[in-house]
Amino acid sequence: MSETKKLFVKTYGCQMNVYDSERMAGALGQSGYEETDDPSNADMILLNTCHIREKAAEKVYSELGRLRPLKDANPDLKIGVAGCVAQAEGEEIMRRAPVVDLVVGPQAYHRLPEMEAKTRTGQKALDTEFPEEDKFDHLPSPRGPKMRRAPAAFLTVQEGCDKFCAFCVVPYTRGAEVSRPAPRLLAEARDLVERGVCEVTLLGQNVNAYHGAGEGGDWSLARLVRELAKIDGLERIRYTTSHPNDMTDDLIEAHGEVEKLMPYLHLPVQAGSDSVLKGMNRKHTAESYLRLLERIRAARPDIALSGDFIVGFPGESDADFEDTLALCREVRYAAAFSFKYSPRPGTPASGRTFVSDEVASERLARLQALLTEHQRDFQQAQVGKTLPILIEKEGREPGQMIGKSPYLQAVHLDAAPDTVGQIIQTRIVRSNPNSLAGEAI
Ligand code: SAH
Ligand code: SF4
Ligand code: F3S
Repeated sequence: MSETKKLFVKTYGCQMNVYDSERMAGALGQSGYEETDDPSNADMILLNTCHIREKAAEKVYSELGRLRPLKDANPDLKIGVAGCVAQAEGEEIMRRAPVVDLVVGPQAYHRLPEMEAKTRTGQKALDTEFPEEDKFDHLPSPRGPKMRRAPAAFLTVQEGCDKFCAFCVVPYTRGAEVSRPAPRLLAEARDLVERGVCEVTLLGQNVNAYHGAGEGGDWSLARLVRELAKIDGLERIRYTTSHPNDMTDDLIEAHGEVEKLMPYLHLPVQAGSDSVLKGMNRKHTAESYLRLLERIRAARPDIALSGDFIVGFPGESDADFEDTLALCREVRYAAAFSFKYSPRPGTPASGRTFVSDEVASERLARLQALLTEHQRDFQQAQVGKTLPILIEKEGREPGQMIGKSPYLQAVHLDAAPDTVGQIIQTRIVRSNPNSLAGEAI
């Protein structure tokens, strides 16, 4: 019997990485690893990385530099890099950071146990292949049998992207779009519910392009959502991230009909100017996006929308940027994420001339000021309403609990600690930019 080894995982990037980190911990559990939150006593440190913007990738190299002393102190410590930087930079990481023992791309996580064994013999292990087999068939469910879980969980239903937006690394780091079979997802959701989960967020880089094998042929995301909604004890369903061009009629209808499907939709548009959208290879216009939102809002009038924006994309003029502001004023997002364009190696836009950093920074500041104003208005509009809040965890102050509104807002209220996992009708009494305060009724 080998003794337990300690695994420390640090996760960067999107929610899919959060989900993957759990699955990797599960896989390494088979090799005798238990998770720790203290890197200094770990036998293995795994960085699950993100390559989406330059800063995200650079963070990984500086983190690896900081891990050097730990490795000097404990030569048996193994350091691994997983995720999208691993996929994109593979061998380069081994060259640039000799502390690294293992590099594993997102489609090879099921091979981690073998790779770990290889590092224990003093060799380096690298796998950035896109194998034929489905890694999820070979990954055990996270952390042991029937362990109790937090009330909200992620569930990857689709991975990869075939859209090839001109700025984006995801189609290269995650590979082609693949949907997981529906029966597996229903089983995984039931298992989560048995472990105390009452809200699942279905994940995919293009989640609404989901078309997994199911009873009677391929299922759409709408069909999957409808079937998930039949699971007793599963109270809330969300999904992210969607592409406007995959917002099908049946999915829009589901928003009007499936009560468990939460009225919140992250639907990135990236820019409000058609010439920029064309340069980005988004294959939709600002107008088609706005008409789409009209149809979604007709099906579910109270739906809250969030979006992503890139400013300073190559060719973006002042007038183009004004179009983005105009689109935001029309939509009034409940929440939004905005970024300066970051040229990514290997993507079509990376060779184009982009606007100066000074101009991009100024545009970002203006856009964020507008988006913040809209977010504040949306928060303020909740005051006086009674909302069902799913209690997730204890708050900072004694007697305080924190939960989520249907619109993905954090809400503080006074309640007993054993209310975790319950949905409590709550009157919203105060709004802050990033949270709401409520009273249970
Ligand atoms: N699959 C999702 C998310 C992709 S990454 C989608 O299709 O929307 C999340 C966000 O990062 C993107 O929506 C985009 O706004 C931003 N992003 C992606 N590549 C970028 C780049 N090269 N520079 C700046 N922001 C980028
Ligand atoms: Fe990237 Fe575009 Fe695919 Fe989203 S749809 S993951 S932005 S290529
Ligand atoms: Fe980052 Fe990869 Fe997610 S690049 S955003 S971790 S898909």
